Amino acid sequence: MRVLVTGGIGLIGSACCKLLLEKGHEVVSVDNNTRKALFGDEANNLANMDDDFSGNKNLELVDADIRNEELMSKIIKNVDALIHLAAQPSHPKSLEIPMEDFQINAYGTLLLLEITRQLNPEIPFAFMSTNKVYGDYPNYFNYKIIGRRYENVALESFNEELPTDRCGHTPFGVSKLAADTYTQEYAINYGLKTATFRGGCLTGKNSRAVEMHGFLPYIIKCALTRKRYYVYGGGYRVRDQVHSSDVAAALYEFIKNPKPGILGSYGKVYNLGGGRENSVSIFETIDAIKAKTSIELDFEDAPERESDHIWWISDLSKFKKDYPLWKLTKDKDFIFNEIIEHYITSLGLPVKLGMEDYFKSKNVA
Ligand SMILES: NC(=O)c1ccc[n+]([C@@H]2O[C@H](COP(=O)([O-])OP(=O)(O)OC[C@H]3O[C@@H](n4cnc5c(N)ncnc54)[C@H](O)[C@@H]3O)[C@@H](O)[C@H]2O)c1
Repeated sequence: MRVLVTGGIGLIGSACCKLLLEKGHEVVSVDNNTRKALFGDEANNLANMDDDFSGNKNLELVDADIRNEELMSKIIKNVDALIHLAAQPSHPKSLEIPMEDFQINAYGTLLLLEITRQLNPEIPFAFMSTNKVYGDYPNYFNYKIIGRRYENVALESFNEELPTDRCGHTPFGVSKLAADTYTQEYAINYGLKTATFRGGCLTGKNSRAVEMHGFLPYIIKCALTRKRYYVYGGGYRVRDQVHSSDVAAALYEFIKNPKPGILGSYGKVYNLGGGRENSVSIFETIDAIKAKTSIELDFEDAPERESDHIWWISDLSKFKKDYPLWKLTKDKDFIFNEIIEHYITSLGLPVKLGMEDYFKSKNVA
């Protein structure tokens, strides 16, 4: 199979490229490193194109904008599947650049759907959406503090039935919701084999994390580099963490075998996060970093960010029902250790405090 991955040098993109290449497929990545342009050198996603990829003849890296219609038409005409990940990914950033955010997320997605409809309508089309399409609707539930986190009084997790309107979104939530519903409409109206994946906190060492995007790697980076961390809206807030390789595996399951809904059309919507077992509050994160590295994070409370979720845990049962072979393979412990190891080694930090056994087992000097 020849697969187009937009945003292919990003956190999820690089995981998709890795998996697809391992499975013997050809991959075309289209990514112009907008992440670096948006968030600066720290967010340079070219760093993700490491030894895993260099010289691989089955990977074509195209440095281009997904809004280049002529180029994207040539590429889409000749692929067997499309995984669309390219995005302006940050909700606080979208408040600064609402027009650019719309152009990339909403228009960019619509353009890819339309080219696919015109030139290659039979291919599976996976779109990575976000739980921010539900706006701040989750904040209208009741929460109780239990231990070091909030718990939802009524629900174990959120499924896809949560409403998406009559709540605050930020421009990012709106541009992704537009893209998300276009992706559904192109299945319903034109028969495209699409699916929409509403991500929780997607994470892993290839997140070029900055304050505005990449919660877990960013807080770990702050701790290890002794930088002050701002806790927006309180430390009891809960996020579910899913490793990039598990996200890639879910997208791969879909493109291998797209499944229509009961009425026969595609365009299914799935929540995709780490679920309850991989959920963590900000305070629990701070505690875990301390337990693993002995480092006490320097943090300061800051006002709540616009439309930020108090608590989010994804209900994965809809995706698991359609794709029973998929499961989470990376737990919280793995995720924390991988990110800590990444920063210690890549930034050359002289800290292995509390991690000696871990580093020994990985043969890292
Ligand atoms: N990371 C998360 O926590 C999270 C959560 C929910 C949803 N998502 C979604 O998952 C997808 C992948 O996100 P990620 O975490 O890998 O982010 P990322 O920033 O690492 O990857 C996105 C990639 O898209 C590229 N890109 C952006 N605009 C482009 C354009 N116009 N043309 C070409 N390339 C462009 C960027 O350079 C970047 O490499 C995005 O759609 C994002 O909205 C991410």
